[in-house]
Amino acid sequence: MTQKPLKASARAHSNIALIKYWGKREIALNLPAVGSLSVALADLYTDTQVEFSESLDEDDVILDGHENAKSSRRISQFIDLVRAQARTDLRAKVRSRNNFPTGAGLASSASGFAALALAATKAAGVDLSPRELSILARQGSGSAARSLFGGFVEMHRGEKADGSDAYAEPVLDADEWPLSLVIAITETEPKKVDSTEGMQSSAASSAFYQSWVDSSPDDLAAMRAAIAQRDFQAVGELTEYSCLKMHGLMLSAKPGLLYWNPATVALIHRVRELRKEGLSVYFTIDAGPQVKALCLPQDKQAVSNALAEVTGVQSVRSSELGPAAHLIADDE
Ligand code: DP6
Repeated sequence: MTQKPLKASARAHSNIALIKYWGKREIALNLPAVGSLSVALADLYTDTQVEFSESLDEDDVILDGHENAKSSRRISQFIDLVRAQARTDLRAKVRSRNNFPTGAGLASSASGFAALALAATKAAGVDLSPRELSILARQGSGSAARSLFGGFVEMHRGEKADGSDAYAEPVLDADEWPLSLVIAITETEPKKVDSTEGMQSSAASSAFYQSWVDSSPDDLAAMRAAIAQRDFQAVGELTEYSCLKMHGLMLSAKPGLLYWNPATVALIHRVRELRKEGLSVYFTIDAGPQVKALCLPQDKQAVSNALAEVTGVQSVRSSELGPAAHLIADDE
């Protein structure tokens, strides 16, 4: 790795799936059982700096100012993929920071592994195309494959055993259809059952799993068409449908996976009431208790105010749609 930059920093934005990914067709390469379609968020992101160094005996990983053995192992295994491509044994110093709570259903693994893929390959002098970066990021976390791109992004399930067709690609840029997301945070503790574990359990024990997988191509096709037509009502209805279908699958696992708390349920009802009151707003929920409300920019303030008043809501954030992952200046 001589004459390589050795150090690089990248920012990747979090994304929220409108058509959900839940389930894997292969574990080792982290190949999804279903495709998915997401939007990137401008205001929620991870900044990651990677520096390869001869003076390190092992990877030195600090996330949000803390060491964490489980996350460090996962990150080291991921950097092994980059080391293999760069043909180096050098260990890396990794400093990563989210500007939002980690591990609580706000897709920190998505922005985290996308930023890491970009920063680590750049630091190692490995030159990958956005598609290759997406394939690499997928091996860290399935949703991370989508965080390489901005705006509306589709992740392909792929069919091949080597995963070369399981990548994300942009569908529509953020500025081609400005939409807003309001995020109601109801808990900031990391979730009890992580996505990887929850997916395995759903696949192994739910009677609904096969129907979930089989019905996914139709949901994706309908969502693609709704986006192409800029049909907000259709996008919103499909978003709620995919979310509730995924949570129905989770609930039907043994033991049932219930990621919601009372505030999550109250928010679902509130979003539906707001629609009756004339606002264009639809909810989605991931593997956590937060509720993300997709709305038109002109309704963002009214939606934020209304959701902030729901009992159990700790805070509300909002975001416009965001850009692709990109390199940023190094801290030091
Ligand atoms: C509910 O990408 O976190 O947010 O591939 O096992 O790391 P792994 O899973 P992850 O799962 C995301 C699941 C979801 C839905 C989605 O983002 O599509």
